[in-house]
Amino acid sequence: MCGIVGYIGERDAVSVLIESLKKLEYRGYDSAGLALLDGKGKSCVFKTEGEISRLESILPELPARIGIGHTRWATHGKPNTINAHPHVSGSISVVHNGIIENYLELKESLESEGFVFVSDTDTEVLAHLINKYYLKNPGDLAIAIRSALGEVRGSYALSVLSEEHPHELIAARKDSPLILGLGEHENFIASDIPAILKYTNRVIYMENLEMVRVKRDSVQVFDLDGNPRFKEEHIIPWNLEAAEKAGYPHFMLKEIHEQTNSIHETLAGRLQELEGDVIFDELDLDKEQIQNIHRIEIIACGTSFNAGLLGKYLFEGLTGIHTDVDNGSEFRYSNPVLTPSTLVIAITQSGETADTLAAVREATSYGCTTLAITNVVGSTISREASNIIYTRAGPEIGVAATKSFISQLVVLYLLVIHFARARSMMDADRVGKLLSELRKIPGHVSRILEDKENIQKCASRFAESKDYFFIGRNINYPIALEGALKLKEISYIHAEGYAAGELKHGPLALISEDVPVVAIAPQGHTYDKILSNIKEVKSRDASVIAIADSDDGEIAKYVDVVLTVPKTDFILTPLLTTVVVQLLAYYTALERNCSIDKPRNLAKSVTVE
Ligand code: F6R
Repeated sequence: MCGIVGYIGERDAVSVLIESLKKLEYRGYDSAGLALLDGKGKSCVFKTEGEISRLESILPELPARIGIGHTRWATHGKPNTINAHPHVSGSISVVHNGIIENYLELKESLESEGFVFVSDTDTEVLAHLINKYYLKNPGDLAIAIRSALGEVRGSYALSVLSEEHPHELIAARKDSPLILGLGEHENFIASDIPAILKYTNRVIYMENLEMVRVKRDSVQVFDLDGNPRFKEEHIIPWNLEAAEKAGYPHFMLKEIHEQTNSIHETLAGRLQELEGDVIFDELDLDKEQIQNIHRIEIIACGTSFNAGLLGKYLFEGLTGIHTDVDNGSEFRYSNPVLTPSTLVIAITQSGETADTLAAVREATSYGCTTLAITNVVGSTISREASNIIYTRAGPEIGVAATKSFISQLVVLYLLVIHFARARSMMDADRVGKLLSELRKIPGHVSRILEDKENIQKCASRFAESKDYFFIGRNINYPIALEGALKLKEISYIHAEGYAAGELKHGPLALISEDVPVVAIAPQGHTYDKILSNIKEVKSRDASVIAIADSDDGEIAKYVDVVLTVPKTDFILTPLLTTVVVQLLAYYTALERNCSIDKPRNLAKSVTVE
């Protein structure tokens, strides 16, 4: 997730682009850059590692009236100056948000034609590809871009500047957001509304597979075949603060909604349904090495630990590899039984959690192969683990982890499938079916979000409770833990997550009519068992909120509230039940007037022991 901007008009382009980029820093802030045409129409590119203030400090005075800019959240290649955007080929400069899935094959073919690459990014492919078509047929930049995009697989919002075309910018989008801001003798391009609100509240929303030619006094939108498109202008009623949250009252709610897109990003370029496999270009473990793994040790803290616990169920159930999960803080002071055939997987959204890092160092000292699953490119863990998989959820501002958690789960599913194939534990047919179900998950998440009023109603009904229980079995037990963790951290209600079968071994003593119990109960091999657990708590007068499949006609007879999730393969249900428990926590905290994005005593990244 990155931010792109573009400007053409009568103002000082440098300050407009810098101001606009600052408003997009929530989309990424590991490097930034600008491409401008100076007073003589010469192209100038400035870029640097780090935040936008650093870019600002290296910019000279420049009489520019046209330019493009970028703030980066690295997905391919380290966050350094060379990998920062814009990327340049000949007279063409490009900024891009998204992922070019077939960039390696395109890069190979462009290199064989003599194009020289300087960065590790997927975006540089776009710059050379556009330049290649422009050199073949000079004169129309839009046609060159259209031809280039015809070869590209993946997602993009991009903006292109060329010194051959000093009076226009071209932009296009597919699966990444892009808007146009309209002014008097000036126009703007941006990933999101906050970037332009200082200058105008008149916008056009670009749709997928649309391209636009932006001039000082006009914007012309086309489809990718060059047919003109009529676009409606909208007036934005928000102020700047609301706009940064895209109109949501809290970052947490915005990030819960962004999960449809973050799941999509996590899957991008990794699924091979036809072959029945998953590819991880970044993984340095071949088939034989995967076959030789005797044990997996997962290390993580907090929400990431809950993801790790789901990982244990999946690895053991689908690959047959014995898997343990430990908190970083416990693992580092235990005497772990590790051998070189143990794979140590560290899960950490920030990549900076001190306990998890210390545990990885401990594992490395035993000669184990380490694999980190993290959201932050260039984080400390990405430099220390021998393998890295990025979750690509984009920056998360709310302290409570939501979209980064769901992306961790998606990576675990993909990794488990990849290992199961390498160890011949799943056939291609089963994998193909599972992958096509996975592709449907973003759509299912949207359905849950559309039904959020029901979840809100339920949350307010029980918002005054002093205690809450979350119960689940098997792969939904980790989601019971996550539901309890989310609720306690943002609403300050005491909440416990339990494996449902454990209730009768103690906690049942706490169940009474004042204690709501959330039972996560999609249909699967433990469904009858959790129904029995529901009856156990019902007979102690608890109110039960069931999270159940939308086609479950039975469960309503036994519970007080049913919150439904669309039907999917049982094994994937945690990806849906998670969204329900997140929304339940969010609306409970809202009802209690809590500080949702910054809960008391907590921090986004725990870099101390
Ligand atoms: C809860 C939450 C924390 C983190 C934990 C580990 O919403 O965010 O429990 O999961 O502090 O952080 P990372 O994943 O950055 O290692």
